[in-house]
Amino acid sequence: MIRAVIFDLDGVLVSTDDLHYRAWKQLADAEGIQFDRAINHRLRGVSRMQSLEIILERAARSYSPERKAAMADAKNAAYRDLLSTLTPADALPGADAMLSALQARGVKTAVGSSSRNASLILEKLGWSDRFDAVVDGNDIQHSKPHPEVFVLAAKRLGVPPAQCLVVEDAAAGVDAARRAGMAVFGIGTPDRLPGLIRLAPSLADVSVDDLLREG
Ligand code: BG6
Ligand code: MG
Repeated sequence: MIRAVIFDLDGVLVSTDDLHYRAWKQLADAEGIQFDRAINHRLRGVSRMQSLEIILERAARSYSPERKAAMADAKNAAYRDLLSTLTPADALPGADAMLSALQARGVKTAVGSSSRNASLILEKLGWSDRFDAVVDGNDIQHSKPHPEVFVLAAKRLGVPPAQCLVVEDAAAGVDAARRAGMAVFGIGTPDRLPGLIRLAPSLADVSVDDLLREG
């Protein structure tokens, strides 16, 4: 029986992909590095520094660790500026209703995100107090696909991993959930989440019963 649902944040509960894209694009353009939305898709679920490494795969020169840290900081400053425009209307379709339905049934809910900006995003959505636990990139040593973020969320919820379900939009997050010994439900299309049987285009396309069904 599923007693808790752990949601990834970016791409599952909130639409921040385009804001990440715009902030990275600004940096890539300034450095003359080719970057497009297809490459941006590879950044889903991975940490900020790993995202930068993926972008730098196309760079003509190499960068020192100090320069890389400065670039990641510049991207984050641009991203946080963009996040200031976020409103509750940026919650993804079905997210708000699914959270209410789960909570009405007494199912615990958590956020398990690689982002270090999760608390700002939740504040902008008006969801700072909406979850039983929030674990983000500030709480963990190892980013997805390492299972740490979900294992810690289950621990904070007081629910064994086998009774947790993870909702994810990124392959790295699906791997992390499996390695944590948890069931997974995907948000997205089969081409983006290969090998995942239980998935839907958005939370608006799945009922609470279907989400909680084991299988
Ligand atoms: C994840 C996003 O939620 O957070 C990734 O899917 C992002 O694209 C990662 O790189 C880290 O985010 P932040 O906000 O700490 O730069
Ligand atoms: Mg995601």
